[in-house]
Amino acid sequence: MAEWQKSDWRNKPRIQMPEYMDEAALKAVEAKLSSYPPLVFAGEARRLKAQLGAASRGEAFLLQGGDCAESFEQFSADGIRDTFKVMLQMAMVLTYGAKVPVVKVGRMAGQFAKPRSAPMETVDGVDLPSYRGDIINELAFTPESRIPDPQKMLQAYTQAAATLNLLRAFSTGGYADVHQVHAWTLGFTEGEKAETYRDMANRISDTLDFMRAAGVTSDKMHSLQTVDFYTSHESLLLEYEEALTRLDSTSGKWLAGSGHMIWIGDRTRQPDGAHVEFARGVQNPIGLKCGPTTTAEDLKVLMEKLNPENEAGRLTLIARFGAGSVGEHLPRLIKAVKEEGANVLWTCDAMHGNTIKSATGYKTRPFESVLREVREFFGVHKAEGTIPGGVHFEMTGQDVTECTGGVRAVTDEDLSARYHTACDPRLNASQSLELAFLVAEELSAMNETRQAAAV
Ligand code: PEP
Ligand code: CO
Repeated sequence: MAEWQKSDWRNKPRIQMPEYMDEAALKAVEAKLSSYPPLVFAGEARRLKAQLGAASRGEAFLLQGGDCAESFEQFSADGIRDTFKVMLQMAMVLTYGAKVPVVKVGRMAGQFAKPRSAPMETVDGVDLPSYRGDIINELAFTPESRIPDPQKMLQAYTQAAATLNLLRAFSTGGYADVHQVHAWTLGFTEGEKAETYRDMANRISDTLDFMRAAGVTSDKMHSLQTVDFYTSHESLLLEYEEALTRLDSTSGKWLAGSGHMIWIGDRTRQPDGAHVEFARGVQNPIGLKCGPTTTAEDLKVLMEKLNPENEAGRLTLIARFGAGSVGEHLPRLIKAVKEEGANVLWTCDAMHGNTIKSATGYKTRPFESVLREVREFFGVHKAEGTIPGGVHFEMTGQDVTECTGGVRAVTDEDLSARYHTACDPRLNASQSLELAFLVAEELSAMNETRQAAAV
């Protein structure tokens, strides 16, 4: 790896990246970013890698979630706080089901650049280049807004730094009050699952009461008041990534300083492409999206390129096939992993294979499909004897109406009420928690099966 250089991706075919028109302006931004401090540090990335390694062995469970695309306009302390809070609530519910620590990773503080299915967007007969995320151009449908502007990288960096600063403060500030578990289920008044979820919440809160009564307080409870929270994003805009990549003096290895974990998207995972070339050279934990078009052959090449030393926690395979398709694709990729004896963490992105257009014209995701994909993911791993080590969601702490369904039943007609996403539809706070209860149920069932097998 000694010969890898952070600019090597420039010699490879690149797709899904903007053509900046003003080369001098681009160079000036890159130079400036290169002089700024990295956002994350090597020791943190290594600690996350160790925790993901534990998740790959079933000794921890990964919860990764946040915006599809972070937005400059909607940036606010309350927004960050609410998403952070919902993730902690989800993690608490999952810890109960998994009986192992939950590794919390936000799609936050860097999740700005978006791959698009079409290079152009047409509205009322007018064609304009697609919106590619606030770090590149603007959502407004005008020719000027869609011109890629390198200056936006500086604003993205500043927003990421401020976001991370707040997350670091929340993580140590006793913010997640686990004793609130009752309040989280208040909205769950109907549906066959409401009772089950309330039962689970009761048991969690009984356990906490018992611990307090037994004198497990202050010091020992401290671990419930501080949390490890990590950041992640798709490593798509490689000029930004390269500029924040630094050599870590302790290990002599490169670190992508833009976030703790970076992933390669479903559209940019070509084994000989620029995005794989960049990711292979940095020491961060790497995610790789696996979709219906991922072949076993490509996956084998990618595992070898991205994790040549077969290090635990280095590579997370993020399965995103869509409800109804997991059984067709996941077993053949699990087989490829087994054939290579590769160390990977399997996690389920139950969002990106389930996007549809609603009758009212909105891009949405039926909550039922999201749930179904998660169940299918667990089912296949059970059948294969492999470990479902995590889940990956697009969600927000805000009360948006972007995905249909859930206990507070968002309908097609409701979507227009609070549809705020800059890109894909996200689960709202209530849907996110409901999902966490479902995953906890799957995890508990799996643990019971394992324990029965061990007896
Ligand atoms: C994403 O995670 O936002 C994304 C675009 O996913 P995928 O690459 O899997 O389509
Ligand atoms: Co998305």
